[in-house]
This record gives sequence, C-alpha cells and structure tokens, in this order.
Amino acid sequence: MTVIVFDDQKIELESGQTVLSALLDRGYDIPNSCQAGACQTCMMQVVEGELPEKSQSGLKDTLKAQGYFLACSCEPQTPLSIKVSQAADLRSQATVVGHDCLGADVLRLRIKPTGTFDFYSGQYLTVWKSETVGRSYSIASVAKRDDYVELHIRRIKDGVVSNWLHDEVKVGDELQIQSATGSCFYIPGTPEQNILLAGTGTGLAPLLGIASDALHQGHSGDIHLIHGALTVDDLYLHQLLIDMASQHSNFNYYASVLKVEQVLPPVTTESLQGTVLAVADDPADWKVYLCGSPEIVGQLKKAIFLAGASMKNIYTDPFISAHSS
Ligand code: FES
Repeated sequence: MTVIVFDDQKIELESGQTVLSALLDRGYDIPNSCQAGACQTCMMQVVEGELPEKSQSGLKDTLKAQGYFLACSCEPQTPLSIKVSQAADLRSQATVVGHDCLGADVLRLRIKPTGTFDFYSGQYLTVWKSETVGRSYSIASVAKRDDYVELHIRRIKDGVVSNWLHDEVKVGDELQIQSATGSCFYIPGTPEQNILLAGTGTGLAPLLGIASDALHQGHSGDIHLIHGALTVDDLYLHQLLIDMASQHSNFNYYASVLKVEQVLPPVTTESLQGTVLAVADDPADWKVYLCGSPEIVGQLKKAIFLAGASMKNIYTDPFISAHSS
C-alpha cells in the first residue's frame, strides 16, 4: 500500500491500484477516456516523489521533463504528491471548417488548429467537450497536403462527445483539442516495402491517413487497404477508395462485407481475416497496420504474425472503450 497526496488530502492506494482509479473512487472528476495509457486525456503532474517509468510511457520528452504522467498507468511504489495538469499547457484551439455526414452515422469533421499543430496521419488527438470530458479520434488527413485535420466520428448511442459533435457543433465553432499521439503512422525510408492496412468501422480513418501519406510521399511498393463492414452501407468511403485505386496503380482497395446481396469487386464476402491472409500471402517483409475494435485487431495481429509478418512491422491502434465515443 502507498499514499498519494492530492488536493491537500492523503489517499491510500490498494496494491495494484492506479492513481486514476483511486481518485475516481474518491469522487474526483479527473478527465479520462481509454483508461489504457493510450489517449493521454488523464494527464496529471507530479509535485513531489518518484514516478514509475510506465506512467510516462508515450509522452513527449518535454512533458516528461515537466513531471507530466498518465494517471491511468501510474501505480506508485513510493509516496507521491500530485496535482491536476494545467489544461492551458496541453490544449489548443481549432476552428471547425468542415462538418458533413458520411453515411448514416459517421461524421467527417474537419478542423483547422490555431498555430502550429504537429501530427502524423494515423495518430489520434483528443477533442474536449468541457474541462473534463474529452474523446480521442484518429487523423485521416495528411499534414503536408491538407490545410485541415480530418476526423471520422461514429455516433455512439448515449455517447456524450460523439452526439455533441454530430448534433451541436457546426462550421465556424471553436474547439479545444489536445496534441496528437500514437505510434500508428507511415514511416518513410523503405518506399519499396509492401504495406497492408486493415480495419473495421472508423478504424478506416487512420488507415486512410496512413495510405494517403504514403502515396503523397511517393511510396512505390504495393499498398493494400481492406475495410471490413457489416453491410455495404457501412463502407462510408467506398467511392473515394475506388477512385484512389484507379488513380494510383500501387494502391489496392478491398471491402470485406458480411451481409451483401450482390458481390461486385472490390466487395467480397470473405471474412476480414480471410481477406487479409489472401492479400498478404507472404507478409514476411510487409509493414502491417491494424485499426478498429480491440478484439478484431487482436485476432488480425495474431493471424498475420502466424502467416509470417514480423512483430516489429505490425502497428496497431485498437479503439479502446471511450476512445471513440
Ligand atoms: Fe489514461 Fe487514456 S491514457 S485515460
């Protein structure tokens, strides 16, 4: 058992309990979303004490140096004194410049950050509805090509942020955002390497961003993008991807759809995993990007690894719990 000091209170942590869990149990309204060390919405700052290394995993060096840490990944072994982070240090403004629906329940939101906003296509950023409520969304646009940041937002039943973005936010509004993070993005340097991108739902957003970035940077190897969906209506960028495939000889698009009346390429009724394994029949030297629900990403990762892909070449972005709500 160890003790943290927060808000002039001493709080005892049970063995294996995180700082976030302890503070939420005490009724503190600490911002959080994924509770898995991914979205960085739960960032806090140490006043005194030694942080476990894991609690700063994935943070920029500048943030680490200032004592920022992720409360959901922090299980201190020795006493810590902590405080909430200064929102102004971490957040910036962005103007909504595009707001349109892609199919029944996916919003394409385009925002223009104020000032410099560094990101890689495929990373995710947090949009804040209020001081403590924020959700992370992946980036589908290309930094050096587009003068906006594009996010795809699925409407989640009872989702506080997704419904607000769908129904209330409009072009011209100012939003609070937090810096982009995540390790799922295109890495230049091996332009001849084949790339496989596979995912479901709005997992398409980072995949589209990565594929577009690769093409923009002159990638010459084959790029295969597979979008898995329940019905054809869920293929919310079907025509755009068909057009991309006709414009770029090395870009290939496949749609794995469970329920379909008429099967016309690029639509197939083969499962997503079956399509992945058919497309990447010898993936030993391929780069692989997998995005979507944790369950499906986990299954695909195992399957492509067993097919011969190297673990160091597999990049994943599982949408965890509130990550996209
Ligand atoms: Fe802690 Fe997402 S990183 S809630």
